Amino acid sequence: MNVVTRVDDLRGLCREAREARLRVGLVPTMGALHAGHRSLLRAARGASDLVVLTVFVNPLQFGPDEDFSAYPRDLEADAEVAASEGVDVVFAPPVDEMYPGGSRTTVHVAGLTDVLCGASRPTHFDGVTTVLTKLFSIVGPSTAYFGRKDFQQLAVVRRLVADLDLPVEVVGCPLVRDHDGLALSSRNAYLSEARRESARAIPESLRAAAAAVEGGERSATAVEAEVRRVLARAPELRPEYVAVVDAAELRPVETLDGSTAVLVAVRVGSTRLIDNVVLDVTPGGSEADLGIVVPAEESESPCAAR
Ligand code: PAF
Repeated sequence: MNVVTRVDDLRGLCREAREARLRVGLVPTMGALHAGHRSLLRAARGASDLVVLTVFVNPLQFGPDEDFSAYPRDLEADAEVAASEGVDVVFAPPVDEMYPGGSRTTVHVAGLTDVLCGASRPTHFDGVTTVLTKLFSIVGPSTAYFGRKDFQQLAVVRRLVADLDLPVEVVGCPLVRDHDGLALSSRNAYLSEARRESARAIPESLRAAAAAVEGGERSATAVEAEVRRVLARAPELRPEYVAVVDAAELRPVETLDGSTAVLVAVRVGSTRLIDNVVLDVTPGGSEADLGIVVPAEESESPCAAR
């Protein structure tokens, strides 16, 4: 496995791979790799000849009062995970390699980025789309893998790639849950056991929403109320938003019909968690996609051992 920190080195390795007619798979991350990232790496490994993992805590996507400094960083541990998943190249650049002399150019996807998470994190998605445009440009034609936990991010990335005709195929991979139901996130590391216990109400609320829809509920207001009712059982949780939207354009719906997403952002203390369920609603019924459960040996939750 090659670990490189320079843009030119990554560009060169990807160019050589393509000249040899190899398929390049890209998994962009901010490190602190967990089983959710492993599932992206496995998807990339299964479909590519050269798997590139990028590990870069991107300052542009953090607001001034956010956790950029505190964000977990452990390149050695990440490299071990990468090696065990058969990654070929790890790109872990320092900030001044990605943004020499700062960054004056911003890539902005209008509309999709000023709602939901973008409403409280107004510069976040511009940071994401700017760094991804750079990574896509360095890596070149490739397939890039993203988790569906970051549902809005995935919609924004798809739009970025389509609007700019970037030579990248975007693959959305299942949201991965721990055994206690919590969606895997690098930020779960911030939670005490007590807060983690409270946070379990988040996936419960989404299961309740799915059950209501399976029981015939089609009113978005009623589904939202069901989510809020379950979240309210854990007084430590402060919902930032609960939204029922069409899954492609993220526009609020009144009546559930077709592919609909219930998206939540919740604060637990100072930790902000997001989660979602996608509901495929047809005249014949509904099917809920709550993601997949992590294999027991990769769990971070004490519940897995029980
Ligand atoms: O999802 C993430 O980890 C980041 O937003 C990404 C896509 C790697 C961009 O920095």
